[in-house]
Amino acid sequence: MSDNHPPSGDGPAPGIEAIGLKRAFGEVRAVDGITFTAPASAVTALIGPNGSGKTTLLLLLAGLLQADAGRVNIAGFDVATDNLEARSRVGWMPDSFGTWDALTCTEILATFAHAYGIDRKASPARVATLLDRVHLGEFAARPARVLSRGQKQRLGLARALIHDPDVLLLDEPASGLDPRSRIELRDLLRELARDGKTVLVSSHVLSELEEVYDQAVFLSRGRTVDTSAQPTEAAKRGWRLDAADPVALRTFLDAVGIPWTGQPNGEVLVQLAGYESARELIRAAVGADVPLHTITPVAGRLEETYLSLNEERS
Ligand SMILES: Nc1ncnc2c1ncn2[C@@H]1O[C@H](COP(=O)(O)OP(=O)(O)O)[C@@H](O)[C@H]1O
Ligand SMILES: [Mg+2]
Repeated sequence: MSDNHPPSGDGPAPGIEAIGLKRAFGEVRAVDGITFTAPASAVTALIGPNGSGKTTLLLLLAGLLQADAGRVNIAGFDVATDNLEARSRVGWMPDSFGTWDALTCTEILATFAHAYGIDRKASPARVATLLDRVHLGEFAARPARVLSRGQKQRLGLARALIHDPDVLLLDEPASGLDPRSRIELRDLLRELARDGKTVLVSSHVLSELEEVYDQAVFLSRGRTVDTSAQPTEAAKRGWRLDAADPVALRTFLDAVGIPWTGQPNGEVLVQLAGYESARELIRAAVGADVPLHTITPVAGRLEETYLSLNEERS
C-alpha cells in the first residue's frame, strides 16, 4: 500500500475502473466501448475467444497503450492524467515474455527491481522473498533457460510483483501449464487476492479460471457481454451421479420421478435446479439406502454462463 492516497472518493476505490474504453487498429475495433470494474481483494476473470480484445484491453488498463476514447482508473488514479501514479500501481504479466535465458532468476528480478527504482540495499531481500513466494527459491542462482513453462510463468508473476503493485494484470497466465502448475498458479492468485490485491486474469479457456475467479467479465468482439442472463441457482443444469450399485440408483430415480440418462461408464446424468435440489436428492437417496457416492455438476459455473450467452464466436 502506498502513502499516496487517490484523489477522489469516500469508500474504497475499486482496483480497476474502465469507462467507455475504445481502441482501434485501422479498421479493427479491438476494444469497442468497454465499461467494467474489478474490485480489490478479488480475482476477476476476463474471458473471451481469441481476437476478442483481451490483450488490447489489458494494455489499455496497464497504461501501455493509449485509448481512443474512455477512461481508466487504477486504484483511483486516472491512467491518462496520472499515468505515473497509475502505472506504479500496476503489475503486468504479458502472455509471452522473453526471459533472458542466460541470466539467473535472481539477476532477472534484480534488473527489474533496479528499473523500478527499488533501493539497491533492499533489492536482494525483496528478490529472495519473491522467489520464495512463487516457489522458485531453489532456482535463484540457476539460469532461466532451465525453467519449465510453469516455472517461467511463476518467474513472470514474480517480475510483475516486484514493486508490490495494488493491481495485477495477467494475460493468459495459465496457458500451456500442466495441471499441477495450474493449481499452483491458482493458489498464488487466491493468496494475492487475500492480500488485498486486485487481480485481473485473462483466458480463452474457461476451465483454466473456473476455480480461481470471484467475478467474470466476458468479452466478445471488443465488447463486454451482458451476463445478467447467467444461470441462476433455480435454472436446471446437468449433474453426474454415481453409485456403487448403478441398478439401485436407476430404480430409485425412476421411483422418485427424476428423468435420467445412463452413461457407458455406469454413471447417470440428471437435470437439477441448483445445490438445494442436489442436497434433497442426496438425502432421499441415503434415506432409501441407495449407495450414492458421487454427485457433481457436469459443467462449471463459468462454462454454464458462457454457454448460456449464446454468442457467436469470432
Ligand atoms: N497492434 C495491433 N495492430 C493491429 N491489429 C491488432 C493489434 N493488436 C490487436 N489487433 C487486433 O485487435 C483484435 C483484438 O486482438 P487482441 O486484443 O490481441 O485479442 P485477444 O487477446 O482477445 O486474442 C484482433 O482482431 C487483433 O488482430
Ligand atoms: Mg491475447
